[in-house]
Amino acid sequence: MTNDEFRMTNENSIFHSKSAEDTIFLGKKIGALLQPNDVIALTGDLGAGKTTFVKGIAEGLGIQDYVTSPTFVIINIHKGKLVLNHVDLYRLEDKNEIEDLGIEEYFKSGGVCMIEWAERMGDLLPKYSEKIGIKVISEHEREICVSSGLALRLR
Ligand SMILES: Nc1ncnc2c1ncn2[C@@H]1O[C@H](COP(=O)(O)OP(=O)(O)O)[C@@H](O)[C@H]1O
Ligand SMILES: [Mg+2]
Repeated sequence: MTNDEFRMTNENSIFHSKSAEDTIFLGKKIGALLQPNDVIALTGDLGAGKTTFVKGIAEGLGIQDYVTSPTFVIINIHKGKLVLNHVDLYRLEDKNEIEDLGIEEYFKSGGVCMIEWAERMGDLLPKYSEKIGIKVISEHEREICVSSGLALRLR
């Protein structure tokens, strides 16, 4: 499903972010509402703000030391109220490489998984995963679409 198709589905919530801080703030609110075994698929172009959003998620989970993007290591694991498994598939274009990672092991480990470039997983992405799509509007503006399951928790 492309970002645009996803935005068209019902029951999702759209948030307008005017700065990286706004995006971190939304991430923090959602991070505080995460539950064991949540899997969240993040989509959006390079520089859209996926990693920035995960920084907020980390804050919401009470993780203080969150700085790095896992782009070079594929997965970063942080211990907060729940374990945060932060996956970035940017370097992995090939479906076989992604299959070989064994990401599924993290899905039911009791922590939460945030997956950047999740669309690359295809049908390896669990059906129950929630989705966050970030669209660049201008240099500092973003439209952040939050799938219905997560959006409900924010109400
Ligand atoms: N509203 C915004 N939300 C998120 N990031 C923003 C926003 N405005 C500007 N930025 C900047 O855009 C960049 C996003 O980078 P990053 O989070 O690494 O993107 P991605 O992980 O999607 O490639 C950062 O430099 C951030 O400061
Ligand atoms: Mg990133």
